[in-house]
Amino acid sequence: MKKNFLPYNSQQIDEKDIKSVMSALRSPYLTTGPIADEFEKELAQYLGVKYAVVCANGTAALHLSMLALGIGSGDKIITSPISFVADANAPRFCGADVIFADIDPITINLDPQEVRKVLKREKNVKAIIPVHFAGQPCRMDEFNKIAKEFNLNIIEDGCHALGGSYIKDNKSVKVGSCADSLLTTFSFHPIKNITTGEGGAITTNDKNLYKKLRLLRSHGNTRNSDDFLMHDLSHTNFKQSKLLNPWYYEMQYLSHNYRLTDFQAALGKSQLKKLDKFIRKRNELSSLYDKLFEELDQKRILPLDNLFEGTHGRHLYVVRIPMNQLNGGRAKLMMDLLDDGIQTQVHYIPIYLQPNYREYFKEKLYFPFSEEYYKNCLSLPLFVGMTNKDVKRVVSSLNNILDKNWNPSSKKKK
Ligand SMILES: Cc1ncc(COP(=O)(O)O)c(C=O)c1O
Repeated sequence: MKKNFLPYNSQQIDEKDIKSVMSALRSPYLTTGPIADEFEKELAQYLGVKYAVVCANGTAALHLSMLALGIGSGDKIITSPISFVADANAPRFCGADVIFADIDPITINLDPQEVRKVLKREKNVKAIIPVHFAGQPCRMDEFNKIAKEFNLNIIEDGCHALGGSYIKDNKSVKVGSCADSLLTTFSFHPIKNITTGEGGAITTNDKNLYKKLRLLRSHGNTRNSDDFLMHDLSHTNFKQSKLLNPWYYEMQYLSHNYRLTDFQAALGKSQLKKLDKFIRKRNELSSLYDKLFEELDQKRILPLDNLFEGTHGRHLYVVRIPMNQLNGGRAKLMMDLLDDGIQTQVHYIPIYLQPNYREYFKEKLYFPFSEEYYKNCLSLPLFVGMTNKDVKRVVSSLNNILDKNWNPSSKKKK
């Protein structure tokens, strides 16, 4: 990797993180144990939610949420086409169907009005998964209203928005507080706002769901004697002595091994302490991008608007550029930026355009705002280790490359 290479996103690990992991590696427990319990408590406290359950990754968090709600064959789940494939895949893992609704073209989040249109047409919709795209919180007040009106559940995908917050009843609430939802899921993949290498979490204020999620995370097994159902197996002479069989555990649900290790949780604990600092830095860098693009006084690079009060989770910094007015389009632009040592990315290809989804849906789907957004979007480098100088370098390189390749007449030819 070139010395001055700028990735589009990257983890921020320091000596405290390394020490925390090393100390966990020296402890008697390696898999999910006391450090995972501590991480869960600290995460829940930070988010202002009653319970957090950590797990193997953000996809597992979505799948576990489906399992906890008993989603299965015949059920339908609505989500956004502009997200990572995991949001659409999770319902399908359980035999349920996924339905897409179009995005709001300004925030790029799932549009509550489009969801309403789907709900008028479809029966058996059990849940909606709004994704806080790029870290900008969704219109949770609207989704909460819809949930009540149509008697369904909201599972927020907070993977981009850990550390972000929005205003509810004049108070700031964190994404993950479940102030307007039943469950929220997170990922701790290295490019997310904090990392555990791989990892994820689910938050909720519902005690029963919390207990079920803890079981589902580990094969559906419990070792908690208060929860045992089969007393003839769990105890020796249950009626007389109530002597607990020390080897006994009980499988109450069919599930998977989605555990997080204690040394990953140790990294999570250490990273969580820095989350607010990380979010501040991500927001500062994003504001600098905004300012520099404004100063360029041009109409061809359009950052996403921020239309809300609160703290943006700032997982991504996305701009839209009319790519059909560029010689070589977005592919050449990305290659030219890479030649300059700047990595960019596209978030996301509308999920329904993936080959597996074309086969799944049989008929051709088309969501105009999702496709228009996809054609022109580009995620620029944004990570905590970036400097203001790096941001200036990206803006100047992007502008120079656009100058070289700008060809508005190419639009007409297409
Ligand atoms: C919005 C969103 N949801 C879910 C996931 C899945 O998380 P993981 O990669 O930890 O399985 C991701 C990760 O890229 C994501 O960006």
